[in-house]
Amino acid sequence: MRMTDLIIRKKDGQALTSEEIHYLIQGYTQGEIPDYQMSAFLMAVVLRGMDTRETLDLTMAMAHSGDMVDLSSLGPYTADKHSTGGVGDKTSLVLCPMVAACGVKMAKMSGRGLGHTGGTIDKLESFPGFSTVMSPERFLEIADTVGFVIAGQTANLAPADKKMYALRDVTGTVSSIPLIVSSIMAKKLASGARTIVLDVKTGSGAFMETEEDAFALAREMVDVGKQAGRNMAAVVTDMDQPLGFAVGNALEVREAIGVLRGEDVPDLRELCLVLGSNILTRSGICASDSDARARLERTLADGSALRRLAEMVQAQGGDPAAVYDPSLLPQAPAVLSVPAPVSGYIAAIEARDVGRVSMLLGGGRATKEDVIDLSVGVLLRAKVGDTVTAGRELAQIHAATEQAARQAREDLLRCYRFSSQPPQRPPFIRGVVS
Ligand code: URA
Repeated sequence: MRMTDLIIRKKDGQALTSEEIHYLIQGYTQGEIPDYQMSAFLMAVVLRGMDTRETLDLTMAMAHSGDMVDLSSLGPYTADKHSTGGVGDKTSLVLCPMVAACGVKMAKMSGRGLGHTGGTIDKLESFPGFSTVMSPERFLEIADTVGFVIAGQTANLAPADKKMYALRDVTGTVSSIPLIVSSIMAKKLASGARTIVLDVKTGSGAFMETEEDAFALAREMVDVGKQAGRNMAAVVTDMDQPLGFAVGNALEVREAIGVLRGEDVPDLRELCLVLGSNILTRSGICASDSDARARLERTLADGSALRRLAEMVQAQGGDPAAVYDPSLLPQAPAVLSVPAPVSGYIAAIEARDVGRVSMLLGGGRATKEDVIDLSVGVLLRAKVGDTVTAGRELAQIHAATEQAARQAREDLLRCYRFSSQPPQRPPFIRGVVS
């Protein structure tokens, strides 16, 4: 088999066999196929696509390029959730404790934030002392005793994806459904959960800006996961504006704790209930959506989800007191109010741009090496469709200095559009693919 022939075949729009796909992934992971050939192949896939059988083969080959985590010791109810990334997305911090309190084990590996989007690992490090580095034995032990654990991705989880994603990033080959599906699903399959629920975002702050692309990605990921023998569902959700009100690491942790304590953050709470219901029904622990929803709501009302979060923070070396007293989380020295410039309706809040404001305050990374400030960010006071009054507080900036806060205030105001009429709004949950 020659890599050159495979590149030419894909360039001509032909499907590759399973053996050919395994050959090229194995050869690339082991350093036998050079970056320049893989780049040409990836571009051919971007232009010519792959059918579902090829995408499944690619996903399986990438998953098996490293460790396959064995969660069988945790029993039959294991689940994982993946979000395609957004602004203000603190879903895992709410969802995992709720689901764990219902008896499903979540052994999650998460990432750090880059660019306008945040990462769960960074957010969790807002708890003083919290660590996401642990042995595989300790990872399983925490999942078993607490019901959920969130660790950083290990070096040998889908190493083919690590190399390929870095290459795609610099060769203009990120935006391809088969490549995105295989990249995400290889890591999820290798992580070992029986049930996988995906949150596919659509809108200005999302990877997939159009709803059509988001559904296409959702369907393909669900197909691949099912063919790999997992229980699957994907929820397509709005990312035209930030999720919830808080954007920035410690601010988001505080908001997540608020939801676990019963505070009303409508979109975040609803998203956790929909994702959670899908986890409980697909994994077979609940027979119906209404039963699943009622059980999840009970975990908020009786405090059991909040207790799970405190137990997990403690098990991972953090201070659980901060779960009950969020004033112990990092706090920014400068807090500046942003008054509404006009009266009327909020017609739009550009999620990507709000994420950028938080990043420029120091809350996110422009490059992988950047050190972030966990305390800074943006706290919205109103969302799209709400009315505002000129001069009343529209948002708050949490910053390291007064000067940074003033600059961010200018930048934040550019993220808004106002109107005199109520804006048309599509539903927050666009649909479920299962
Ligand atoms: N996230 C991933 O992990 N891979 C992609 O290709 C795109 C988003």
